[in-house]
This record gives sequence, structure tokens and C-alpha cells, in this order.
Amino acid sequence: MNTLPSLLIIGTGGTIAGAGASPELSTRYQAAQVPVQAVAAAVPGLEARASLRFAQPVQKASYEIDSADWQAIRAAVLAGLADPALAGVVITHGTDTLEETAFWLHHSVADPRPVVLTGAMRPGTAHSPDGPANVFNAAMVALSAQARNRGTLVVMNERIHGAAFVGKRHFASVQAFDSGSAGELGSVADGVAVFHGDADPRAARRAVLAPPAGQALPRVPILSGHAGLDALTLQAVIDTRPDGLVLAGTGNGNLPAALRPLIGSAIGRGVAVVRASRGLEGTITRDSPMFDDSGLGTITAGRLPPAKARVLLMLMLACGVPAQQRQALFDAA
Ligand code: SIN
Repeated sequence: MNTLPSLLIIGTGGTIAGAGASPELSTRYQAAQVPVQAVAAAVPGLEARASLRFAQPVQKASYEIDSADWQAIRAAVLAGLADPALAGVVITHGTDTLEETAFWLHHSVADPRPVVLTGAMRPGTAHSPDGPANVFNAAMVALSAQARNRGTLVVMNERIHGAAFVGKRHFASVQAFDSGSAGELGSVADGVAVFHGDADPRAARRAVLAPPAGQALPRVPILSGHAGLDALTLQAVIDTRPDGLVLAGTGNGNLPAALRPLIGSAIGRGVAVVRASRGLEGTITRDSPMFDDSGLGTITAGRLPPAKARVLLMLMLACGVPAQQRQALFDAA
């Protein structure tokens, strides 16, 4: 009788499923070339630790992933979790937007069982690929009772991160991901996941917003602040008629005063506007002397970076969260 725990591995593409023309090529290769079964077959010892199931809703480089793909990945996760015998889920993913898919699942899947994303910085054809160890370590986390009730997790380079804080901070090193001043949640070595502390109750209390399967998600672009950002540029974005807009201001989410009338008129026409920062750390000050949010109707992103603020705003708009409740959800995220 097979007494191994059941583990679902969902493949979505990325470098972890990539292939190059020769072993010396670690940055010149094609992403998303091999199916998830082949990615798992390259992981020594994995089959001895779990009874594996597979799904492949997407096969792409992660910079090609769109919101329809997020829905497809979420549907694959929910289909797997519908079986009470499943212990957990591992998702192999391109690293470029891995933190966005992780945050999407964190706020749209409520199950206490672990959902763990991993990827690789080098393709499987490189001299020293990092994918096999990352998949094995992600599987050990997904099978760990300690990983339950923590929301969506990310495992890269032996470190365990929470979806709320993790980000890709280096675009070439195998030590690409970290969680900034919040810190990582734990580490994996010798097939054992060790967490630094108990599950943070805020992860269990997080807002979970569940748009119907297959529903098209609202369109929310991000406009990055910079010296000289002008009204012409903002107007061009507003002219595309977005449902929402994330303004990644400079420093404390600051934006030139000349943009205020345009922002106000977009909000007046029903566009939800979130003010975030292009900086890496910090929490946006609401209604500072430099930017009055209440008078204008902007939402502040709290500590969320622009890409995660975009995910949360898309979920709120898709689920019809009323305008007056949106700021509180950002403050709690
Ligand atoms: C991608 O994000 O699909 C390409 C880069 C990577 O996976 O590391």
C-alpha cells in the first residue's frame, strides 16, 4: 500500500522549465521548454518522499503571464485542494513575476494547506542548475505540518518566504529573492523545513477575495514616478480607460502637484487610484503635507510595492469591494 503523502506539482513554465544550447549558458536560454513531469523527474529523491500528481495550466516565461493565467493557476490549485487527501501544492514558476502570482494566490485561496511557489535562476541544462534543489525544498515545505496556515509561501535557494513580503531583488544571482526588513520565515536543509517562529496570525486573518473562476479581471496599469513625470504621460495612461491605476511615486509615494487635477478627474470618473512608491521599503504616509489623499480620493498602498498593490486592487475591483472599504484592506495587507 502506498502510504506516501500526496503532493500536487503545478507547472507554469519559466527558467526552471528552460533549456539552453550548452551547459555553459546560464543566462542565454529559452524559458518554458520542458513539461512539469520532466522538471520533477530531474529531482533525485522526490518520488521517495511523496506520491506525485501533476497539472500544467500554463507553459510560459513569467513575464508573459497575464491575469487570465492567474485565474488558470488558481483553478488548478483549487481543483487539487478539493481532494482532502492532498497534503500540499508546489508551483514551478518563472522568477520574474513569481511574487505576483504568489500574492495573487495568497489573497484568493483560503485553504490552510501549504501552497509553495518555486523557480530557478539557471535552466536545467546549465552546469549547476538550481531548479532541482529548489523543487525538492519546496516539496519538503509543502509536506511540512509547520507550513500550514501561513498563506502562500515561496521557497528559493534554501530560504522560505511569505508571499506578503517576498520579492525578486537580484536578476541574475541564485540568491535572487528576499523579504527585506520583514525577513524570511525559515529555511530548508537536508530535506527538513525549519521555521523561525509560529505562523503569523495576520497571515490567517488576511483578506481572501475569490473572483469566480474564469472571470476576466479588471485592467490596472502601473505608472512609475520619476523626475520630470508629466501630465501628458499620465493622460496617455488614463486615455486607455483603465479600471484602476497604481501610481508608483518617488520616495514616500510623492507625485508632482501638476498631476493632481488629472488624478482627481480620473477618480471622479470611477477609476480607483492607488498611490504606492517605487522605493523598496517603507509604508506610505497617508495625507502628508506633500500629498493630501483624502481631499483627492487616492488610496495609499501601505507597505505594498506597486506590483502587489496592483494585484490587491484587481482582486478588490473583481469582487466588488466598495470604494470606502478599500483603504482598510490595503492597511491590513
Ligand atoms: C521567467 O520569469 O520566466 C524568466 C526568468 C526566470 O524564470 O528566472
